[in-house]
Amino acid sequence: MTMLLEARDVHRSFSVSSGMLKPKRTLHAVNGITLGVRKGEILGLVGESGCGKSTLAKMLLGSLAPTRGQILFDGQPLAAADRLARARRIQPIFQDPYSSLNPRKTIASIIALPLVVHGIGDAAERRRRVMEQMDLVGLAKRHAEAYPSQLSGGQRQRVAIARALILRPELIIADEPTSALDVSVQSQILNLLLDLRDELGLTYILISHNLAVVEHLATRVAVIYLGRIVEERDTDNLFGEPGHPYSRALLSSVLTPDPTAGMPDVPLGVAFPNPLEPPPGCSFHPRCPQAIAECSSTVPRPVTIAGGFAECLRCRPAGAP
Ligand SMILES: Nc1ncnc2c1ncn2[C@@H]1O[C@H](COP(=O)(O)OP(=O)(O)O)[C@@H](O)[C@H]1O
Ligand SMILES: [Mg+2]
Repeated sequence: MTMLLEARDVHRSFSVSSGMLKPKRTLHAVNGITLGVRKGEILGLVGESGCGKSTLAKMLLGSLAPTRGQILFDGQPLAAADRLARARRIQPIFQDPYSSLNPRKTIASIIALPLVVHGIGDAAERRRRVMEQMDLVGLAKRHAEAYPSQLSGGQRQRVAIARALILRPELIIADEPTSALDVSVQSQILNLLLDLRDELGLTYILISHNLAVVEHLATRVAVIYLGRIVEERDTDNLFGEPGHPYSRALLSSVLTPDPTAGMPDVPLGVAFPNPLEPPPGCSFHPRCPQAIAECSSTVPRPVTIAGGFAECLRCRPAGAP
């Protein structure tokens, strides 16, 4: 089956200043990512804050150019499509619905905006489609003339989802879509996303620092560390038997009692490394409980394991004794 979206060895670096009179330095936010998403799949991207998830998402949306590598949508270079053409087929959903909704517009006009921008329908037709969208995402009709500040966080995220879907895109890239919400409404929004996929035949890339969120939804998961995919597996395989020591650490962090604590409780001791000075060899080795001497000098290649691959020198390939 052909890929709906493909990234081929994508890199993105930023030139950052490290203080007055000091030379600029290069920060490698995304450092050689190759991935493919098939139609109907939900690909989860997980990793600690700062590992490059949002930078990758922006490139997959076409809103940030890679410094190296290529992104194809439906077999065509994403960079070749104009912004409006891209927006009809790929739409984002962001973490904080409040900052992405204009506080001075009514809910109905916020949801209708893509139709206006794309010159679709007259006022009556737009109104009809807005009402249909509100119904689709579970928003009561009486909210049509309300303002974002009058809605709860969960309702605001429903507005953002309604707006993202009104052009009937094929791919949704959701960057931490529930991280700003109360735990009690997170699963409602995640279940809504699942229902919408079935109803509209959508494909998702779901980004989260929380493995539990991804386990609930994703069909496949890519674990990102310092701008690279260190493990990519079918969801059942990853959660059944994680191959990379970093994935194992993430999995144990899911079990902490406080779901709002996020990743700081990853049992890895030292803080997340500096992407300005990535360690040599395997970039995870300074934090790795299983590291051997070789890990500090040899860059691991992908090893095929059940349901995917992991980049770890200590990983045994599928079928090996
Ligand atoms: N525009 C930018 N300029 C400089 N550095 C950036 C920029 N955007 C992201 N970064 C850096 O790139 C790294 C990855 O960031 P990001 O993609 O936001 O990670 P995540 O979404 O996983 O938290 C971080 O070190 C961040 O500080
Ligand atoms: Mg982010």
